[in-house]
Amino acid sequence: MTRWLQWFHRWLGLILGLQVLIWLITGLYFSVMGNQAMSGHTHFEPLPNESLAGLEWSSNIGDLSRRFDDIQQVEWQQVLQIPQLKVVTADNTYYLDGRSGKPWQTDRALATDIAKASYSGAGTIDEVVEVDARFQVLFDDPVSTEVLIGKADGAVQGHRNWNWYIADWMFRLHFMDYSGGRDFNNLLIRASGLVTLWFAIAGLILLLRNVKRGDLWRPQTLLHQLQHKQHPVASGCGGGGTCGLCKVKYTADIPAVSSADNQLLSPDEIADGIRLSCQQRKLPDSGLRDIELLDVNARAWQLEIESEQQITPTLKHIVFLRPPNFTFNPGQFLQFQIATRAGAVLRNYSLANRSDDNQLSVLVRRIENGIGSEFMHSLRAGDRVDVIGPLGDFQLRSENQRNGYSVFIGGGAGIAPIRSQVLSLLSSQDPAQVVLFYGARCEQELAFQAEFERLAKDHRLRYIPVLSESLSASGDFLTGWVHSEALKYIENVGVDKVDVYLCGPPAMLNQTLNGLRELGVPAERVRYDDFGI
Ligand SMILES: Cc1cc2nc3c(=O)[nH]c(=O)nc-3n(C[C@H](O)[C@H](O)[C@H](O)COP(=O)(O)OP(=O)(O)OC[C@H]3O[C@@H](n4cnc5c(N)ncnc54)[C@H](O)[C@@H]3O)c2cc1C
Ligand code: FES
Repeated sequence: MTRWLQWFHRWLGLILGLQVLIWLITGLYFSVMGNQAMSGHTHFEPLPNESLAGLEWSSNIGDLSRRFDDIQQVEWQQVLQIPQLKVVTADNTYYLDGRSGKPWQTDRALATDIAKASYSGAGTIDEVVEVDARFQVLFDDPVSTEVLIGKADGAVQGHRNWNWYIADWMFRLHFMDYSGGRDFNNLLIRASGLVTLWFAIAGLILLLRNVKRGDLWRPQTLLHQLQHKQHPVASGCGGGGTCGLCKVKYTADIPAVSSADNQLLSPDEIADGIRLSCQQRKLPDSGLRDIELLDVNARAWQLEIESEQQITPTLKHIVFLRPPNFTFNPGQFLQFQIATRAGAVLRNYSLANRSDDNQLSVLVRRIENGIGSEFMHSLRAGDRVDVIGPLGDFQLRSENQRNGYSVFIGGGAGIAPIRSQVLSLLSSQDPAQVVLFYGARCEQELAFQAEFERLAKDHRLRYIPVLSESLSASGDFLTGWVHSEALKYIENVGVDKVDVYLCGPPAMLNQTLNGLRELGVPAERVRYDDFGI
């Protein structure tokens, strides 16, 4: 409930904040422009109020009391020296042509003359348009003046121009009256008032809750404190307690186990004093001295891009010059610092190359509007990037079974750390049987296909690509779910003979982990990396 309240409160605050901004901008506009400019009367000239003397009135007007019921008022007036009679009854107002006694008619020529008489600018008439009960006389001056003349009475209903139209929109936005009526008491503004009241009450409830929990005065999380001091700590969820990457080891004053610790850490890690730093706020009495960072080789680097290549429709392979002294374990990743207008954001990309290569490389899947992946896809040879690393404990087990099988299961961009592990394992002296299951949507999305096929041809790797969304045109590929094929294989060779490494999309990861659990593969023989995407 509170989470929903917070979510709604945040978005509502954004919307109300936008409206306040609109009020500020439109209010500023009104005060700068002034009434005259916004009224559209830049070239307005009142019609001459000439005397009625000398006008010829028709004798056909007759007895008005016989023509109209319940007359309240009669006015004798003129429009450009044409006599006009205005008769106001209880229900209506009538205009008569004083020359004939017939109902008043404004024709196009008269409307043009009236418009000219009420216009003081230098423009000439461009067009006269008949719109419903009036004429719009358009002048070709710089502000595009329009003079509105009523058909029923020949009166000048008003002048409009660009300034008027802009001001009209400003009024709509300011009054929240999009009907154009400039009514400050409309339904939308009343509803907004109620919503704002709810916003204020909800804000008060949340504030009281935070005060009660002492959140207002709580120190930052240990993760934030470490990152602020430029210590290399991994994070894949920004401190949300869901990625399990921000592990640190307490050597004294070990804090209680949080629910996120319980979910994401193994019992051995918990017993060893390892905790998720994003869940801790309290430092040991000795400060950071009694906290050990687990990624001991990690530090800040600036890497230069040697080359980049789009190797599948969505995956880009980016190769960096390897700095001297950079060492990593296959499966580890780099944390990239990406500068954005809102400040630096951190994104993790796994190293995809063999651990003893002369270069470093990553494989990045493009995500539309993704801050990190779009940035990575925009990089070109010669560009430099700031990274921290190597980070992460998705690594090959030192006690891999010699006579068993190392089974790797990769999906999508998850093939990156898997490739690094497979190539590194194959280059070691005495590899176990190495089996790679690689899931992709279609044949074109299989990265490093030629390389894996070559290794398979040399009988160094058993390579099984599986396509999930397209049928294999050549018949060379299995189709379906990669985890189903891998689980069948593991069941076949024996669950006690395998070490399993997996990395891929969340659905694949979860189903594989569940399947391995059901088959009875010991948890300590399964390693996986969760990209969180
Ligand atoms: C340890 C670790 C290693 C990683 N290694 C790699 C790697 O080797 N290669 C790689 O490509 N990525 C890798 N990632 C994921 C990577 O760090 C980013 O999360 C990913 O690139 C998306 O970031 P972004 O800034 O582009 O998208 P964001 O700006 O964070 O997200 C943009 C939008 O896209 C959505 N979105 C995010 N990801 C996906 C997705 N996959 N599919 C659909 N929608 C999505 C988000 O929910 C959001 O709405 C790794 C992550 C971790 C934690
Ligand atoms: S940062 Fe993700 S669990 Fe701590």
